Amino acid sequence: MIVDNSKESILRGAEIIKSGGLVAFPTETVYGLGGNSLDATAVAKIFHAKRRPDFDPLITHIASFEMLDRIARIKDQRTFDLITKLWPGSLTVIVPKRDIIPSLVTSGLDTMAVRMPDHPTALELIAQSTGAVAAPSANPFGYLSPTTAEHVETGLGDRIDMVIDGGTCAVGVESTVLDLTKDIPLILRPGGMPIETLRSVLGKVDVLNRTTLTPSAPGQLPMHYSPRKPLYIVDSLDQIPGYVQEDSKGRLKRTAFLSFKGEGDLSSFGAKEILSSSGDFVEAAANLFVALHKLDSSPVDCIYAEPVPTEGLGVAVMDRIYKASEK
Ligand code: TXA
Ligand code: MG
Repeated sequence: MIVDNSKESILRGAEIIKSGGLVAFPTETVYGLGGNSLDATAVAKIFHAKRRPDFDPLITHIASFEMLDRIARIKDQRTFDLITKLWPGSLTVIVPKRDIIPSLVTSGLDTMAVRMPDHPTALELIAQSTGAVAAPSANPFGYLSPTTAEHVETGLGDRIDMVIDGGTCAVGVESTVLDLTKDIPLILRPGGMPIETLRSVLGKVDVLNRTTLTPSAPGQLPMHYSPRKPLYIVDSLDQIPGYVQEDSKGRLKRTAFLSFKGEGDLSSFGAKEILSSSGDFVEAAANLFVALHKLDSSPVDCIYAEPVPTEGLGVAVMDRIYKASEK
């Protein structure tokens, strides 16, 4: 059931979370599927609703620095300085956890993922419930992330107690996940907080190399964020196979194109989405999942996508397009 984000709705949502239920809520990145992070049974319901394998740990969302101290063991100045500067925001940090966080939240790891989202509805819901809300993106496991309340309702509506509508998410890609337990901070997932911003605060920052993935870097599973239609990355329109182009029976009409700036002749595609006609990475990120959801639900057989330059938020956009593609 979708409700508005009035104070009353948020308070009702907070009651649901306090009593162990699930509420989907907007953040600035994507919609989250929230449950009480201090209650293992509530957390188990999240995994069940998403059909998510339980080896993939969740992010705990907080609304205050006091709560951070109750759930995480943070001693180093570097972490404090970073989060004071960048929270609330699209940055998730991996830090040592305290026992109050059930091991189901972290899949048995002694570290946890935590972030303070930059969205008034999210902050209010967290503060009015238990102060610590575990929330993965509110999509069925492996499917595209939701950036509208309708995306959530379509994917999970019958499995959750409430969806709070906060409009379309402004950032549009998930938070950047940064492991601060390493000597050199390590980006595990590029996301809404650009690498350039992190480097300007921290100096050296490493980025996880996908080819060295191990089970201790979960959530990096290659089948994440996939549309149901096959998606292929092509460097130019010329690379789209001839049989798609040449079929006299309107074959191209059953083909969709995800374009960065809308360059070239896209008129014969059955569906097309342009991420940012001015080539703006922030706008492209904000439009990405809305565009992919639209193309996926249009009457086409497959989706072609062109690469986005990997600067600023373009890194996160390209990471998601890559994960959505057929390997
Ligand atoms: O923007 C976001 O981050 C959204 C909104 C709802 O906040 N949430 C989100 O959650 O994307 P989820 O569960 O889809 O992704 C969480 C990521 C996964 O890649 C997971 O593997 C990683 O965080 N993660 C969580 N705990 C971890 C830990 N202790 N060590 C390493 N990675 C961890
Ligand atoms: Mg997710």
